[in-house]
Amino acid sequence: MKKRYITTAIPYVNGSPHIGHAMDYCLADVCARYYRACGDEVKFQIGTDEHGNKIFQKAKELNIPVQEYVDKNSEKFKSFVEKLGVSYTDFVRTTSSKHEEYVRRIWQKLSNHIYKDKYEGWYCTGCERYITEKEYEENDGVCPDHQKPYEKLKEENYYYRVADFKEQIRKAIESDKMLILPDFRKKEILRLLEETPDVSISRPTSQLTWGVTVPGDETQVMYVWMDALANYITVLGYPEEDISDWWPATAQFVGKDILRFHTILWPAILMGLGLPLPKTVVSHGMVLSNGQKMSKTIGNVVEPIEVIDKYGLEAFRYYFLRHVDTFADADFTWEKYSEAYNNELANDLGNLVQRLATLAQKNNVRIDKIDDMVFSDEYVRLMDECKYARAFDLVWEKIQNLNKRIDDEKPWSLAKNGEVDQLNQCMQSLINDLLLANYELSPFLPGTAEKIKGVFAGDEVMPPESPLFPKG
Ligand code: MSP
Repeated sequence: MKKRYITTAIPYVNGSPHIGHAMDYCLADVCARYYRACGDEVKFQIGTDEHGNKIFQKAKELNIPVQEYVDKNSEKFKSFVEKLGVSYTDFVRTTSSKHEEYVRRIWQKLSNHIYKDKYEGWYCTGCERYITEKEYEENDGVCPDHQKPYEKLKEENYYYRVADFKEQIRKAIESDKMLILPDFRKKEILRLLEETPDVSISRPTSQLTWGVTVPGDETQVMYVWMDALANYITVLGYPEEDISDWWPATAQFVGKDILRFHTILWPAILMGLGLPLPKTVVSHGMVLSNGQKMSKTIGNVVEPIEVIDKYGLEAFRYYFLRHVDTFADADFTWEKYSEAYNNELANDLGNLVQRLATLAQKNNVRIDKIDDMVFSDEYVRLMDECKYARAFDLVWEKIQNLNKRIDDEKPWSLAKNGEVDQLNQCMQSLINDLLLANYELSPFLPGTAEKIKGVFAGDEVMPPESPLFPKG
């Protein structure tokens, strides 16, 4: 049995979960469920990123003690993930004492690559990122994502000598030893790698207190990304435990905006610790709302809970896993969402199940069960390449094709003409193919797949009591 470790980016807890966070969760969940179905053992991490200035400032603004604030918000993320039906195994919080202790030990292990120097430059608290002079000029001093001027920092910090690893990282990316998906992001990262200076990895406590204290230096706390990236291994027990059963990760899921951290700083940290690099880093695009970045100022933020409540969880997963391309930016509009629900889930799939089950029940068709469910080769190829939206399309083509076959083969005419053998044969073949498609559907829509299985599982076919997707 293979062991697979799958991870998601841990969101900052300075607000409530939004649609973007759901992308990481849903994609990683499909990956986890797929490998479980293949018989592999899966460890699946999620969690919350709770340090840094952004969070500290927000709690202060709200006049809530920071720990209380992060406790409350971390819980919100946990319940959101549960609402999404995400099959995670481990939840990590960066303010847990275990994580903090392990991160300090990790820092000590990296000490050969750490030095102290003066930093004079720019910082964006929204991105929690140091900004190069070149970026500053390109963006005229204002962060395009947060619409806030970059802050000037002049402080003494610890630096991580990324330069020690650049050549090795370049080779790992070029040779796909650490595979970056989609492929077109690889060039972008290789270019960024060339330009990346050593990274400042701490802040003086005069500027930031909400972080992990640097071992042996009470005047400094760790830079939030230093602490956050380590979550992927502290949750496995590193450095206390041997993590070789699970590490390197099979796939790490992140948004394109934070790919650079995961393919430059993170590999440099891992190399400094003598640990292997993740096998794959999957970068998904951004979910837009009516063609624009979601922003409270524009007023186009779509609340995920509202979307789930409209047509249910399965519809939510359906839309974001099929209609949002796995690797590109994609748009959410209520019109597109309603169309997808009514035309595809209700018409294509809901009707198909209803039609086949009713025909089988009405004509007392007995179904011989298929013992071994197998995924088709094409599906396996797409799933192994993390091309989830494409794999989902493939499953949907099968569903649509089954509807067409029912129309062409007209089992109701066979029943009417008393052609019992042909009817049984025809129904058996249609239902077998539906169950195979349903098996491939299960990582995407686990709840629906379970219901469909139930309809055809017993000796007698039992049509669903109410439509799987009532028109809305
Ligand atoms: N805390 C860091 C991640 C640390 S991982 C060691 C962070 N947090 S975040 O809350 O800003 O983002 C969490 C995840 O949500 C990232 O993968 C990010 O790309 C994703 N998304 C945030 N907004 C998004 C959209 N509008 N669309 C799609 N994903 C987006 O970055």
